[in-house]
Amino acid sequence: MRMVDLIQKKRDGEQLTTEEIQFIVEGYTNGTIPDYQVSAWLMAVYFQNMTEKERADLTMAMVASGDQIDLRAIEGVKVDKHSTGGVGDTTTLVLGPLVAAAGVPVAKMSGRGLGHTGGTIDKLEAIEGFHVEITNEQFIELVNKNKIAIIGQSGNLTPADKKLYSLRDVTATVNSIPLIASSIMSKKIAAGADAIVLDVKTGAGAFMKTLEDSRELAKAMVNIGNNVGRKTMAVISDMSQPLGFAIGNALEVKEAIDTLKGEGPEDLTELCLVLGSHMVYAAGKADTLEEARQTLLKLINNGEALAKFKLFIEAQGGDGSVVDHPERLPQAKYQIELPAKNDGWVAEIIADHVGTAAMWLGAGRATKESEIDLAVGMMLNKKIGASVKAGESLATIYSNDKEIEHVKEELYRSIILSEEKVESPRLIHEEIT
Ligand code: URA
Ligand code: CA
Repeated sequence: MRMVDLIQKKRDGEQLTTEEIQFIVEGYTNGTIPDYQVSAWLMAVYFQNMTEKERADLTMAMVASGDQIDLRAIEGVKVDKHSTGGVGDTTTLVLGPLVAAAGVPVAKMSGRGLGHTGGTIDKLEAIEGFHVEITNEQFIELVNKNKIAIIGQSGNLTPADKKLYSLRDVTATVNSIPLIASSIMSKKIAAGADAIVLDVKTGAGAFMKTLEDSRELAKAMVNIGNNVGRKTMAVISDMSQPLGFAIGNALEVKEAIDTLKGEGPEDLTELCLVLGSHMVYAAGKADTLEEARQTLLKLINNGEALAKFKLFIEAQGGDGSVVDHPERLPQAKYQIELPAKNDGWVAEIIADHVGTAAMWLGAGRATKESEIDLAVGMMLNKKIGASVKAGESLATIYSNDKEIEHVKEELYRSIILSEEKVESPRLIHEEIT
């Protein structure tokens, strides 16, 4: 097989075979096919698209390029959730204990996030003593016993995806539905999920800005999953503003605790119920989505969801008393208000800018080596549709530094007021199964 022929075939809009796609992915991973040929092929894919079969083949070739996590020793249907992008997304912290309380095994492997705020592990490390350095055996044992555990990423998962993603980044081929869909799905499948619930964000703060594009991405991922034998479904949810009120690590842990108690923000609570219902249903723990939702509501109201969070924290060395005493989480030195400059209605909260402001405070990593300040971040006091009087606080900034004019300016740029009344956006746009 010659790479030049495969580039030509895709350039001319033909379908590649399973073997041809494997040849490209293997050759690129082991260095026998050079960047310039793969670049040309990626650009051909960008313009000619891929068939459903090609997308499934590309996904599985990337899965085969590295280690695969074997979760067979865990009883039950392992359901994973994935959110595409978004800022200050607290859903993972809430959903883990919530669906575990419903009997769904949550075997989570997580990395340390680059970007606006930390990853799930960073957030949990805001809890004194909590650690993810456990052995694979301990991990499996904990999931079987408690239905939930989290372990730091180890092993070499989907190296082909890492290499291709870097190349796409510098060849203007990131923004291609078949390439994005196979990239995301390869990572979920390599991590061992039997079933996958996708939360595809749409709107100004999301990877996909329009509903059409989000729907296309969601359908592409659902088809890949189902075509390779993993039950997959997707929810398209709103990211025209950050979800919930909290952006920042300890602040999000506190928000997750509130939500597990039934006292969380309305949008975060609703999205967790919708995604959680699909997870419970996919795991076979309910006969209908409505029954699953009722189960989750009951677990919130009777305290079992919160108790599960406490058990999970303590099983991994953490101070479980934070669920009753969130003031024991890291606290910032200063709380600084952001007063509205005039009257109006909140029309937009540009999540990207809010995220940047959080990163400048120290909540996220600019490079892999940066240290995160777990205490800092912000609480949004007004969401889209809220009416505001001049001088009222739009957000409260939690900072360890008093000089934060640049952060305030960035937040003023991100929270846009309108003189006319604005409706609050719809949270769930579509569910695709
Ligand atoms: N996220 C991924 O993991 N892969 C992509 O290609 C795009 C976003
Ligand atoms: Ca949040």
